[in-house]
Amino acid sequence: MPSVKDLIEIARTAKTNSYSPYSKFSVGAAVLAEDGKIYSGTNVENASYGLSLCAERVAIFNAISSGNKEIHVIAVTCPESPKVDSLMPCGACLQVIAEFSTTKTTIVVDHVGEFKLTGLLTKPFFIEGK
Ligand code: THU
Repeated sequence: MPSVKDLIEIARTAKTNSYSPYSKFSVGAAVLAEDGKIYSGTNVENASYGLSLCAERVAIFNAISSGNKEIHVIAVTCPESPKVDSLMPCGACLQVIAEFSTTKTTIVVDHVGEFKLTGLLTKPFFIEGK
């Protein structure tokens, strides 16, 4: 069973592949999925800025693409991670985490701490009867 430290290490490695020529802010993420495997992602920007994707969503979609539907743990890191509160997952990523999380899902932010989704997004959008 991978540890939180393992996940942070994998997120840091993914961060080195960040495509962020516009913001120059690299982010890495790693998801421990229901199959026990780790799926990573990094932020990918575009000249049409709004098309950019956050590292968290890339990692989650990577896990989904391999047949998973449940995030057990998601870890995220950025270059400023030693600076407290330097990065928290954005609202869009929290909504995507909500889609694939359980009450046990843990969100680990490098050098900041561990959170449950309800502490970061109190009322996600859901459609009844999914
Ligand atoms: N970014 C992430 O990848 N994750 C976050 O949680 C916040 C922001 C990215 C998006 C963009 O490429 C860059 O960081 C600056 O906003």
